[in-house]
Order: sequence, then C-alpha cells, then structure tokens
Amino acid sequence: MLFGLVIGAVCYAVLPSYRLREGGSCFLHEAEEIGGAMNSSIADYIHDVQFNQSIFQAIGELFRKNNHEGTWLHCIKVAQEAKQLAVRFGYSPEAAELAGWLHDIGTIIPNEEKIAVAQSYGVEVLEGEARFPYILHQKISKAMSQDIFQISDNELLNAIACHTTLRPNSSLLDKILFVADKLSWDHSDAAPYLMEMRRSLDMSLEEAAKIYLTHVWDNRMQMKVVHPWLAEAYQELTNGA
Ligand SMILES: [Fe+2]
Ligand SMILES: [Fe+2]
Repeated sequence: MLFGLVIGAVCYAVLPSYRLREGGSCFLHEAEEIGGAMNSSIADYIHDVQFNQSIFQAIGELFRKNNHEGTWLHCIKVAQEAKQLAVRFGYSPEAAELAGWLHDIGTIIPNEEKIAVAQSYGVEVLEGEARFPYILHQKISKAMSQDIFQISDNELLNAIACHTTLRPNSSLLDKILFVADKLSWDHSDAAPYLMEMRRSLDMSLEEAAKIYLTHVWDNRMQMKVVHPWLAEAYQELTNGA
C-alpha cells in the first residue's frame, strides 16, 4: 500500500497534464471536454467527479469516489510497467501509460450491473461473459474511456478492451498492456509465473504473454471461464501446441 502511494506521488509530480485547455493530447478529441457526454447508465458512478483537471487526477477521483482506491493504485503500477515496456519494445510511452491508468475503470461498475451497462454501450456480450460478468470490465473500460474521457485513439482503446484476455492478431500495445497488467499483480498465486514472465521478456513480449496464456490454458478446467479471445491468442502464439 505504501509502495503504491509512493508511486502515486511520484507519478503525480512528473506526469504531463492531459487537460484539454492546456493543449490536450493526441489521444483525445480536441473539440470535447472530458466528462462531456455520458451514457446515463453510468450516471450513478460519476458522482461529482471534477473533469476540469488532468486526466490522471480525474481517473483517480473516479476510482476514489467509487471506493476503488486499491484498483487505482493497481492502475498506477500497470501504467508504470506499461511505460517501461513501451520504451523497451518501441511504442509511445505516453500512450502505454494512459492505457494503464484507464484499463480497469470498468471495474467500478458492480458485476450485477455489468451486462446492462455493456449493452447500453452497444457492446456485444458473449456467452462466457454473461456467465461471468466480471470479465466484461475490459470492454466496459474501453466504452467508458471513449464516453467519459473522449479517448479516440483506436490502438489505445482496443488494448484496453483486451487487457485481461489478449486477442488473436494482437497489436504491440495490446501485448504491452496485457503483460504489464499480469506483471503488476501482487497476489502470491501469481508468483510462480511472474518470474518466468520477467525472464522471458529478454526474448520477446510474445514469449512473456505466452507464459501467462499457457498458465491459464493448463488450468482451464479450474477457471470460471476461458474467454474465446484468450483461447485464440493462446492457439495463435503457441501454434496450437
Ligand atoms: Fe482488468
Ligand atoms: Fe488490471
């Protein structure tokens, strides 16, 4: 917890502002303000979040006002990890960092509301997602990023939408965010493959992604759901081995 707060303080001090009136960012629509147009199905979760501040501050406030401080600290860790991976593997560190901050905003929607919220955004709900709605948070995070924060960069949005499962034909940013998310878990169950993932980054991002996908695939009988995107990503990266 202390570690997360320290990271948060550092981020707050050094991160650029995405405030539109201060020049904005290429990831945002220029003509709209963040918090401008919102789907009414999420109105209960917006509270009185102030959107006339940096996007980093606004996302943090959104998590805090929904009692998801822990998830925000996780997002800050993912953003830091994603930024480092972006530098290492040749992607925009700013885009990777922003994707990290935003990737779990869908978790503020309670599981029992996720299907309705997803449908209100016109998001397709697959059979496994209907059975285990938590997994819908990746698609809802994408929709909320567009809706609340007017994120318009498709690579960034698509990476958010598959950060839990990856997907076949994944982009570089998809893999960066997916791997950063897994590397930022700190529960003990993850320990066995985390070290292996870090080691395999010396070979490639794909190798690191493969470690996690293989772990899920090998334990699929114990999983509540194996998302079809994850199954396809696994088959693709392992050539069906
Ligand atoms: Fe997530
Ligand atoms: Fe996450």
